[in-house]
Order: sequence, then structure tokens, then C-alpha cells
Amino acid sequence: MNLIHFIRQFVLHTAKTGAVTPSSEGLADLITDTAGLHSASAVIQFGTGTGVFTEKILQKISDETRFFALEINPDFVKATRKRCPDAIVYQDSAANAKKYLNELGINECDCIICGLPWAAFSEELQNELLDTIMDILRPGGKFLTFAYLQGLLLPAGMKFKRKLSTKFSRVTKTKTIWLNFPPAFVYCAEK
Ligand SMILES: C[S@@+](CC[C@H](N)C(=O)[O-])C[C@H]1O[C@@H](n2cnc3c(N)ncnc32)[C@H](O)[C@@H]1O
Repeated sequence: MNLIHFIRQFVLHTAKTGAVTPSSEGLADLITDTAGLHSASAVIQFGTGTGVFTEKILQKISDETRFFALEINPDFVKATRKRCPDAIVYQDSAANAKKYLNELGINECDCIICGLPWAAFSEELQNELLDTIMDILRPGGKFLTFAYLQGLLLPAGMKFKRKLSTKFSRVTKTKTIWLNFPPAFVYCAEK
């Protein structure tokens, strides 16, 4: 999917897309390296967009790792499947992740890599998604999500940061990727 098509998705589905441009390779490397994917046995991705994170996940998981992704927008599902033919991508909300995990015969995963636009979500949707995450992540498991630097100064961004700290036992923030547009960093939250 090229930039024009991505911007079109932003115009058509602003609150669900939450970004005007795709994430950079640098941000994709940062989020997947911070996750420590080599030792994970089950990994889930939320919100694939163009598949830039998905491609890195596939490169960094082991052959034994079970992996699937959930993307709500059919155009982004198509783009991710085209870019990553080996990935299992379901067109569904991340809120339904447990159903797909259970289909693998397991209840918990080690890691969730997330591209969801939290700042654009209602409080209700944020809570529903975080409840799902807490339910399916194993104790000690990692939830990784990115945020734009300028969001840290906005009430919605500050509130989301506080929310992560109340839910998870440890939340750390990575360096900033200045060449991402806009500059972004990753929250690494451990259950
Ligand atoms: C900021 S974009 C992801 C950007 C991605 N890192 C990229 O560069 O292509 C957010 C993505 O989350 C998806 N999304 C939004 N709400 C969702 C939900 N409830 N479940 C799954 N995916 C969702 C959007 O359709 C969009 O693809």
C-alpha cells in the first residue's frame, strides 16, 4: 500500500487509523527488538496497518512461535497479506483476540505487539482492549505499543500513560525514533 492509499484510509477511517503515514522501518525495528521475540512461544499483533511491524515480527520469531494478527480494516488486511503472505491475519477487532488464541488450544500469549491508535479511542474502547490484553497475556508477558512524542504533552496521551502504569507491574519507555513521522517511541509494559 503506497502513501496515497494510506492517507485515503486516514481520511475515510480517521479514528480507527489514527496516523497519517505508515510507521517507519526504524520504529518497526525498535518495537520488535524491545519485545525479545526470539524466546516467545505465542505472539499476537494488534492493528497491522500496512504490515511494516508484521514483516519484522516474522523475521524475528522462531519457527516454533505461534503468531497471528488482528486488523479491523479490510483494506489493511489485504495490504498486510500481500506484504507478508506467511502471516495469519484475521479481519476482526483486537477485542476478540481471546477467541483466536483459544482456537490454537492456548489461553495466554507471551507478547502483544500493538499498532492501535490509543489516543483516538474512546475511554470505553481503551478499557475493553486493555481488559482483553490483561486477560490473554501471561504473567511476566510483554505488551508493546507505540506513541507519538507530542502526545505526551496532551491530556489524552498523559491519561493513557497513567492507565498503563495502573494496569501493568512495570512500564518503560524506549528512546525516540526521530525519523519516524511524527517522532515516536515505544511503551514496553510487563504484566
Ligand atoms: C496507526 S495504524 C497502524 C500503523 C502501522 N504501524 C503501519 O505503519 O502500517 C492503526 C491500525 O490499527 C487498526 N485498528 C484500529 N482499531 C482496531 C481494532 N479495534 N482492532 C484491530 N485493528 C484496529 C487500524 O485499522 C490501523 O490499521
